[in-house]
Amino acid sequence: MELLKSIQERYSPRAFDSREIEQAKIDALFEAARWAPSSYNGQAWRFIYATKENPELWNKLFDALVEFNQTWVKNAPLLIMTVARKTYEHNKQAYAHNWHDVGLAVGNMMNQATEMGLYMHQMGGFDFGKAASNINLPDELEPVSMIAVGYKGDVSVLPEDFRKMENQPRTRKALDEIVFTKAF
Ligand SMILES: Cc1cc2nc3c(=O)[nH]c(=O)nc-3n(C[C@H](O)[C@H](O)[C@H](O)COP(=O)(O)O)c2cc1C
Repeated sequence: MELLKSIQERYSPRAFDSREIEQAKIDALFEAARWAPSSYNGQAWRFIYATKENPELWNKLFDALVEFNQTWVKNAPLLIMTVARKTYEHNKQAYAHNWHDVGLAVGNMMNQATEMGLYMHQMGGFDFGKAASNINLPDELEPVSMIAVGYKGDVSVLPEDFRKMENQPRTRKALDEIVFTKAF
C-alpha cells in the first residue's frame, strides 16, 4: 500500500523553495512520463521546460500565466508547459484522446516527483494563445497545461491570502459518488 499512501498524501503546493532541482531528477520526471500508455502508442505528449538558469524561456512560459498563478509560480525553480499532438503521426487522423494521454504522462511524472521529494502544481490558468505564440508552437501541437515544480517551501514566501489556501484540508468525493456497478 506504499504507492497508495504516496498518492493520497501528494498535494499541489504554492509555496516552493527556490532551491535548484538536480538535472538527474528533471530527467527522471520526463523518463517517467515517456513510459505512459497512450492511444495507438501515439505518445501525444510534448514538454517544454525552463529552469531559472534559462531566464529567456522561463519568462516566455511565465508571461502566459494568469496573474493569480504568477503570484506564486515566481518562486518555483522549474516551469513545464505540456502540449499535445492534434493528430496521430501514423495516419494524420484526429488524436481524440490526446489530452487524456498527456494527463497519463503527467500522472506518471507526479508519482516520480513524489518519490524524489519534489512537488508539482499543474495549471490551466494561462493564456493558451500567448503561450503558443511565445514559443512559436508548431500548428500540429496545442497547449494543455503549465506545471510548476520544486521542493516544498515555507508558507512565509506567499502573500497572506495564499497562505490560508496552502493550509486548507484537501477534499475528495466519496467512492460511492464516483464508482458505479449499475447502469444510470
Ligand atoms: C488541469 C489542472 C489545472 C489546474 N489549474 C490550476 C491553476 O490554474 N491554478 C492553481 O492554483 N491550481 C490549479 N490546479 C490545481 C488544482 O486546484 C488542485 O490539483 C486541486 O485543487 C486538488 O488539490 P491537490 O492537487 O492538492 O490534491 C490545476 C490542476 C489541474 C489538474
